[in-house]
Amino acid sequence: MGSAGVSLASAWAQTAPVPTAVIGVGNRGYHLLLGVLEEPQAKVAALCDIKPDRLDKAATAAAKQEAKTYTEWRQIIERKDIQAVFIATPPHLHAEMAIAAIRAGKHVYCEKPLGVTASQVRELWKAGRSAKVVFVTGQQLRSMTTYIEAVRKIHDGALGELLWIKAQRHASADLPHDGSSADWYFDVNKSGGYLIEQSVHNLDLCNWIVGAHPVKAAGFGATARYKNDPPGRTIFDCGTLSFEYPNGIKMSFTQNVFHPRGMPGANQYVYVYGSKGAVDLMAGNLFYPLGREGKPEPFVEKRQEAPHAHVSAFYRAILEGGSNPADLKVGVTAALTSILGHEAMVRQAVVKWDDLGVDVS
Ligand SMILES: NC(=O)c1ccc[n+]([C@@H]2O[C@H](COP(=O)([O-])OP(=O)(O)OC[C@H]3O[C@@H](n4cnc5c(N)ncnc54)[C@H](O)[C@@H]3O)[C@@H](O)[C@H]2O)c1
Repeated sequence: MGSAGVSLASAWAQTAPVPTAVIGVGNRGYHLLLGVLEEPQAKVAALCDIKPDRLDKAATAAAKQEAKTYTEWRQIIERKDIQAVFIATPPHLHAEMAIAAIRAGKHVYCEKPLGVTASQVRELWKAGRSAKVVFVTGQQLRSMTTYIEAVRKIHDGALGELLWIKAQRHASADLPHDGSSADWYFDVNKSGGYLIEQSVHNLDLCNWIVGAHPVKAAGFGATARYKNDPPGRTIFDCGTLSFEYPNGIKMSFTQNVFHPRGMPGANQYVYVYGSKGAVDLMAGNLFYPLGREGKPEPFVEKRQEAPHAHVSAFYRAILEGGSNPADLKVGVTAALTSILGHEAMVRQAVVKWDDLGVDVS
């Protein structure tokens, strides 16, 4: 799939409504299902989850469309009539499920991160890079009009020469230890940890701004606040990273889950510094010109975003050849960027992009 990511399936005459399945109907999968149900171009034909309560809830929401329910995801892949598959299972399952769906000729909307190890991502890239299906990664920031306009302005030179980025993703608490995702979240082999599972959004935004992926990373990670809590925990609760992009552009990134509510400073931000001034994307969206006289001014107008714009883009790409906001290359690059950072924190060393062994050029 090229960078536009549009390669219509040739296996069938593509007409609406597109028979669709959702695999994994937990928090995110249920939200995506609501988006599919709102989509006139789609029909929910199948739902899959290993947890009966979640499957029941989803089946109730989709009752009018008489979706068939499954606990074994491979049965969905085997159904020839299903043309589009949403994958919203825990991250370590994404690559295997997406590869099977692509090989079966189905269009895929796969949640981020596309994998938690470089080898998972490599296998998915190999299977999908030339496939004649639409593949959308759930990096939905790429469908938000505020970011689309901000990134376009940065690319058009509004900040001058790009110099530096400082970004962070802080939260005020750990994910609930008795929550419904606790059975996979605290296991680094299943979620990848906060950097891979959550900050993949923030890191993708940085990649988008720079128009490239980092060439190396260095960092430190720690479990500072939630030691062995919950018991058996293998994910960090904080980390500090430096990334280097082509042309020597540096990005500094921190993450934690113990940033007190209300403490000054936005909990999530991306500050982009250029030779003319800087912008605080994600927070106030203000442009701060360099120089003593400069006063902050709005960079882009914040808009009310359509909640399911990314899902709609998926169907437009399938049916009309519409542009793909987050194709396989975007998703693979984002996942690898977060894996690069994670590896640097684990090894406490400089890790090079090339060490990951996935050629996304
Ligand atoms: N794009 C976003 O903004 C966003 C937001 C939240 C979550 N997510 C992503 O969505 C994915 C799911 O996260 P979540 O918060 O919904 O987690 P969750 O635990 O609520 O849901 C995952 C679901 O997958 C099901 N599942 C597990 N193994 C399965 C299998 N073998 N076959 C079928 N179903 C299976 C679970 O039973 C569960 O219902 C993660 O990759 C997460 O990163 C994305």
